[in-house]
Amino acid sequence: MSQLRDSAPLLDAYLSYFESKHTPFTIPGHKQQAARLDQGLGQVVDVDTPLYGGLDEVKLTGRVLQQAEALAARLWGGDIARFSTGGSTHANQAVIFALGKPGDKVAVTRTAHRSVLSAMVLAGLEPIWMSPDTDHSSGVPTGISTATLQAALAQRPVAVLLTEPGYLGTMSDLAALIELAHRHQTPVIVDAAWGAHFGFHPMLPPHAMQLGADALVTSMHKAMPGYSASALLVARTAYLDADRLEHGFETTHTTSPAGAPLASIDGCRALLETRGEELLDALLVNIARFKAQVQAEFAAQVFSNARDFADRRFDPAKLVLHANALGTTGIAIEQALLEHGIRIEMADQDTAILLATIADSAVEFDMVAAALIPILKQLQAESRPSATALSWSVVPEIALSLRDAYFAETTTVDRAQAVGRISADLIAPYPPGVAVVAPGEILTQRIVDGLSESRAAGVRIAYATDPSLATYRVVKSG
Ligand SMILES: Cc1ncc(COP(=O)(O)O)c(C=O)c1O
Repeated sequence: MSQLRDSAPLLDAYLSYFESKHTPFTIPGHKQQAARLDQGLGQVVDVDTPLYGGLDEVKLTGRVLQQAEALAARLWGGDIARFSTGGSTHANQAVIFALGKPGDKVAVTRTAHRSVLSAMVLAGLEPIWMSPDTDHSSGVPTGISTATLQAALAQRPVAVLLTEPGYLGTMSDLAALIELAHRHQTPVIVDAAWGAHFGFHPMLPPHAMQLGADALVTSMHKAMPGYSASALLVARTAYLDADRLEHGFETTHTTSPAGAPLASIDGCRALLETRGEELLDALLVNIARFKAQVQAEFAAQVFSNARDFADRRFDPAKLVLHANALGTTGIAIEQALLEHGIRIEMADQDTAILLATIADSAVEFDMVAAALIPILKQLQAESRPSATALSWSVVPEIALSLRDAYFAETTTVDRAQAVGRISADLIAPYPPGVAVVAPGEILTQRIVDGLSESRAAGVRIAYATDPSLATYRVVKSG
C-alpha cells in the first residue's frame, strides 16, 4: 500500500500501469514478458515501463510528467523543474548547455564533479578555476571564499558553477557567494548532487534555492531513496533563459526515459513534502547516536562534526571518518568492513565515508557500529596528520583550452616521460571524482607521483586511458 500515491502523479502512474491490463506493441522490447525467455532477464526488465506508453500515453496526452515536475518546482521554489533519468551527470549537462556560447567563460570550483567538466567540453565553455579554502588540520576543502569568487567575477564569466555540499560534507558561505554573483548579474548554478535532503529539517542547511541560487541539481539516488541515476534540476528564470534550459535538457537527455526513475523522483518529492522532517529527524538522531557510540571508544576525534567548521557549514547527515587520526587508512577500514558484508561509499588514505540515508534504520546503524568498533580498535596505531588529498590541493597549470585539448591529436607516453606534458585525459581519484588534472593541463611531477601513490594505496584512479598509470595519454607536441 503506497501512502504517497495520492500526492505523487508519476508514482501513481507507474503503479497503475502494472495494475492494468496491457498488451504493448511498442518499445521497450521486453514487453514485461522477458521472463518467458529467461527468468533472470525477466527479473531485471519486467518491472520496467517507460514514460512514453507506460506512465503516460505514447503522445504524452496525460501530462503526468509535467504535473509531477510542477509539484517539484513548487516544493523547491523554482520556476521550472525537470526530472532526469541520467543522474546529476545529465542535469549538470542540461543546465550548462543553457549558459552561454562556445568560448564563453564560467567560474567553476575545482572540486566540481567530472560531469561538470565534461559538460563544459560539450558546450564549449572554458573554466575560470576557483580553488577552495582548505582546513589544514583535516585537509578537508571548506568552500570557495568570496575573495576567490570576486577575482573570478572580474574575468566576466557567464555563470558561476558551485558544488555544494562538497563530497566531504562541507559548504561555502553560499548565501554570500550568490549575493556577490547577483551583484554582477551572474547566475549561480549549484551542483547539490549530495544534498537532496537539504532544506527539509531545521538542523540541516537550507537548500540552494532557499539561498537564492538560480539553479540546483541534485541526485535522488544519493541522499534520498530514489532509483539509480534519478536526478532533479530546479531553476529560476530571472538570470537563466527558460527556453534554453528546456533545449539544453532535451538535447542531452534520452528520448526513451525509463518510468521507474521518474516515478521515484516524484515519490521522493512527495516523501520530503509529507514526512521529510520526521524522517530526517530519525536519521539525524541515528547518526548522532552512532557517532557517539563509536567516538566513546577512542580518544582521537573519529568523525567530522558540524561544530568543527565555520558557521557549522557541514552536512550533519554525513559520516566522514578520519582514518589518519586513528593511525590507519580508510582503505584498510573499507577492506575490513567488506569482510562483514558492509560496503561503504568512499575510502582513501585518510578518510572513509559511509552514506546514511532515511532508508537506514537504527538496526543497520547498530550493525555497522558493532562491526566498526572492533575493526578500528584492531587497526588503531599512532595518529598521523592528514596528507591533504591530491584532489583537493592541486593548483592547475593550464597550457591549452579544455575543449582544444579534448579534441587534440594525442599520443601515449611512459609515466617517466609524462611530466611536463599536456594531459589529454581527465584523471580523478574516484570517488570523489574530482579532477586532479583536466585536458589541457600540465602533468606536474607532484600530480604524476601523487596519482601513483594514491593508486598504490588502493584508490581507484578513474577516467585515465591507462588506469594502471604506467602510461599517460598526452597532447601530441609539435
Ligand atoms: C558533486 C557531484 N555531482 C554530480 C555527480 C554525478 O551524479 P550522478 O551519479 O547522479 O550522475 C556526482 C557523483 O558522484 C557528484 O559527486
